[in-house]
Amino acid sequence: MHDRPSRVPDAPELFTWEFATDPYPAYAWLREHAPVHRTRLPSGVEAWLVTRYADARQALADQRLSKNPAHHDEPAHAKGKTGIPGERKAELMTHLLNIDPPDHTRLRRLVSKAFTPRRVAEFAPRVQELTDRLIDGFAQRGSADLIHEFAFPLPIYAICDMLGVPREDQDDFRDWAGMMIRHGGGPRGGVARSVKKMRGYLADLIHRKREAPGDDLISGLIKASDHGEHLTENEAAAMAFILLFAGFETTVNLIGNGTYALLRNPGQRQRLQDSLAAGENGLLATGVEELLRYDGPVELATWRFATEPLALGGRDIAAGDPVLVVLAAADRDPGRFAEPDTLDLGRRDNQHLGYGHGIHYCLGAPLARLEGQTALAALLTRLPDLRLAVDPSELRWRGGLIMRGLRTLPVEFTHR
Ligand code: HEM
Repeated sequence: MHDRPSRVPDAPELFTWEFATDPYPAYAWLREHAPVHRTRLPSGVEAWLVTRYADARQALADQRLSKNPAHHDEPAHAKGKTGIPGERKAELMTHLLNIDPPDHTRLRRLVSKAFTPRRVAEFAPRVQELTDRLIDGFAQRGSADLIHEFAFPLPIYAICDMLGVPREDQDDFRDWAGMMIRHGGGPRGGVARSVKKMRGYLADLIHRKREAPGDDLISGLIKASDHGEHLTENEAAAMAFILLFAGFETTVNLIGNGTYALLRNPGQRQRLQDSLAAGENGLLATGVEELLRYDGPVELATWRFATEPLALGGRDIAAGDPVLVVLAAADRDPGRFAEPDTLDLGRRDNQHLGYGHGIHYCLGAPLARLEGQTALAALLTRLPDLRLAVDPSELRWRGGLIMRGLRTLPVEFTHR
């Protein structure tokens, strides 16, 4: 038997418009009164929300919580419309975030061989060049929408380059990815068409790279698999797909949420600007980590499902129950962080969960750090009087379940 949804007096309403704008007061309430809380999601699925840091860290590393949606004890009324990626068994969905050991261990080892910190470091000049080119595109104008003109194109071009997607095809990727973000997750219509086109393209690209390998990530993946360990064509396509998708909307929102947080905290922004002007990078590095903790792109970690009954934070979770670890809530836990609601770019003791924890810890963290640091440093240095062009109350947040990010970020600055 499932527990009934907990009916705690004065429980905040979740997943409303107000909640999407500022979920932190609701998360503070949950941490305090119902740290492991069963709730009904907008899709109708019931899931546990885990909001305290210690519970969140434990859950992320708990092997009894599987990533494989086959473990979901899906109620009849939700059949086929849970919105849980992978539950419909689409080919591209057999990727790192939907599988468990031993398959996960094998695939992660393969991709780690190709996606090395050295490869990411070598990529720094290219990220700088992309960043500068995008800023050049609007610098003369004195205004821009930083989401559409900057945060959105930068990561898609960066990851396409890294994977080995030829430049002339990258705008197609930008359009397919844009369609998937705008219309989030739904399996029908334009999104399904975009996924289909991308799947066809990736299959073809993998085939071409097998024939004529280059110095890119897809060729690296194929090569790694040829050295003893096996990677099927479908696994390679799913891997390319998850690299694109895990690395895309997240980084858009790191740049968007991060810039917005800096614009709302002028003292901290000035501190960073001064340190960049002095040629120092230390505050930039700790600052990007702090922006991830303070208002990170991944609000809830991706789905987990209990493979057996377990206790978490004093609640009993039944086998088959979905569990969502709320990274955004854990990273504001006063039990772990001093003054958690204050943005402190120099914060030292900052083991945030923005990149997750355990075996699914973000594979792309070095690339995300590189992109986030390059983008924010370039914006603050090249457009020193950058400011919001609208009242914050006019900004709209995307109401997705997993990601947190702005739809648009209109800014003004003195053109130069
Ligand atoms: C996994 C966050 C950028 C590739 C994860 C997870 C988080 C995360 C929280 C774990 C999810 C879970 O356990 O349910 C972020 C953030 C990013 C970012 C905040 C940007 C600021 C990237 C980039 C790439 C990437 C740029 C690749 C190019 C991946 C992959 C996984 C992953 C492949 C799955 C790893 C596994 O399951 O073993 N990321 N990510 N991410 N991320 Fe990132």
